[in-house]
Amino acid sequence: MSGTGPLVLGIETSCDETGVGIVRGREVLANVIASSVEEQARYGGVVPEIAARAHLEAMRPTLELALETAGVRIADLDAVAVTAGPGLAGALMVGVGAAKALAVTAGRPLHGVNHLVGHVTADLLHAPGEEARPVELPTVALLVSGGHTSLLLVRDVVHDVESLGETLDDAAGEAFDKTARLLGLPYPGGPSIDRAALSGDPTAIRFPRGLTAAKDRERHRFDFSFSGLKTSVARYVERAEADGVALPTADVAASFREAVVDVLVTKALDACASTGVPRLLLGGGVVANRRLREVAEARAAAAGVRLRIPPLDLCTDNGAMIAGLGARLVEAGIAPSGPGFGVDSSLPVADVWLR
Ligand code: KG4
Ligand code: ZN
Repeated sequence: MSGTGPLVLGIETSCDETGVGIVRGREVLANVIASSVEEQARYGGVVPEIAARAHLEAMRPTLELALETAGVRIADLDAVAVTAGPGLAGALMVGVGAAKALAVTAGRPLHGVNHLVGHVTADLLHAPGEEARPVELPTVALLVSGGHTSLLLVRDVVHDVESLGETLDDAAGEAFDKTARLLGLPYPGGPSIDRAALSGDPTAIRFPRGLTAAKDRERHRFDFSFSGLKTSVARYVERAEADGVALPTADVAASFREAVVDVLVTKALDACASTGVPRLLLGGGVVANRRLREVAEARAAAAGVRLRIPPLDLCTDNGAMIAGLGARLVEAGIAPSGPGFGVDSSLPVADVWLR
């Protein structure tokens, strides 16, 4: 079964994954990812300059492999799409530069698009021969990764995406990464904390739930803050050291994870209740967290909210979701971005594409 719709190549370089994806309409023909996560592991987090250089090195082989996998030539493409923001400026510039070069040489229209809306579009995609069962719109979307934590109300992926809230400090994945480092666990922190938490008691330590107190609900009902939680773990570790007692790493990991998951799911379901939208879509690398999926599934079911979690390779940063958003723009008749557009590291989510 071959898909229908525009053939679009998407380039994603907003953080540490170099992603090139090719879709025909909603069908994913290729989704190739090169990650600099191993290089970043030495530093315990993403170093922007290292990410940018890794994108430069990975771009050409990733692009070639995507074209080969999809079995298409550059000349076959109907359009090129690229993440223009939000993300790390230097990393974004590599992708935008490559996309411009490609679009100009091939004489194809170019769409600079919003990374966060790309995450939402991921749910519309399907593998060749499969059927998609995407979330209905409108939906609330919770996007959680190493670079962002956003709660959105999506009425239409092309024309109507609204930000309900976002993190005021660390991103959820970043909180996992920094806390793992405090506990002496390897980067990336999410999987290592997941592993350490296996034998831990999530109720052992009551860590703070940022911005959930009554006084915060007025101004920051749908915003997140994880820096207080991180500090609280740091104090706990320091106290254990000062007292000369062994750190109960498994309990700390499980209790920390519980605090993050509790805040994420509570705020997301509160957003569903307050907007009257009984649908929740999850996206971003933190969705790999087992406990997050479990709690979200149980509490969404109890609240009568339909939960959608795309396959993991479409949840983490990837080029197919950017190509998918490009295809939606082409289908909606949106004019390509002008040749002069630049990157915007804090691009607002309401700006789905650049003019
Ligand atoms: O979406 P993603 O691949 O893009 C970037 O932000 O680069 O997400 C990566 C983030 C990292 O912070 C990582 O620690 C987190 O997702 N992550 C997890 C898990 N697996 C990855 N966080 C919590 N639990 C996990 N199992
Ligand atoms: Zn992302």
